[in-house]
Amino acid sequence: MEKTSELIWQDTQHQELFRLIDKIKEDGVEADIFVRLYDYAEHHFSLEEAYMREAGYPDIESHIAAHNKFRQELTNMVTQHHDYDEVLRESLATFLSEWLKRHIWGVDKKFEAYILSSDIK
Ligand SMILES: [Fe+2]
Ligand SMILES: [Fe+2]
Repeated sequence: MEKTSELIWQDTQHQELFRLIDKIKEDGVEADIFVRLYDYAEHHFSLEEAYMREAGYPDIESHIAAHNKFRQELTNMVTQHHDYDEVLRESLATFLSEWLKRHIWGVDKKFEAYILSSDIK
C-alpha cells in the first residue's frame, strides 16, 4: 500500500496558522488576532503532542520544548505591546512565519517521517 507523503490534518492546520499570521499584517486588524492565533496554535500543538505521545515518539521532549518557545513568544507579544502599529505588526508577523516555516521543515518533518515509516497512522 502506498503511503501518503504527509499528514493531511497537520498540513491543513499549518495553512490555517499561516493564514492567521498573515492577518496580523492587515490594515485595521484588532490586537485580539494574537489571541486567536494563540488559541489556534495551542489547538494544533496539543494535537501534535498527543499524537507523539501515543506514537511513543523518541524526540517528543525537544519537540514540546520548541512548541513552548512559540507559546512564550506569542504570550510576550500579547502582554508586552499595547499599541500595534504597522511596522510592529509587520515585524511580529515576519518573525512568526519564519519561526513556523523552520519548525515545519525541521522538527515537524522529522516527526512526520517517523509516523510514515511506522505502522501507526
Ligand atoms: Fe506543526
Ligand atoms: Fe510541531
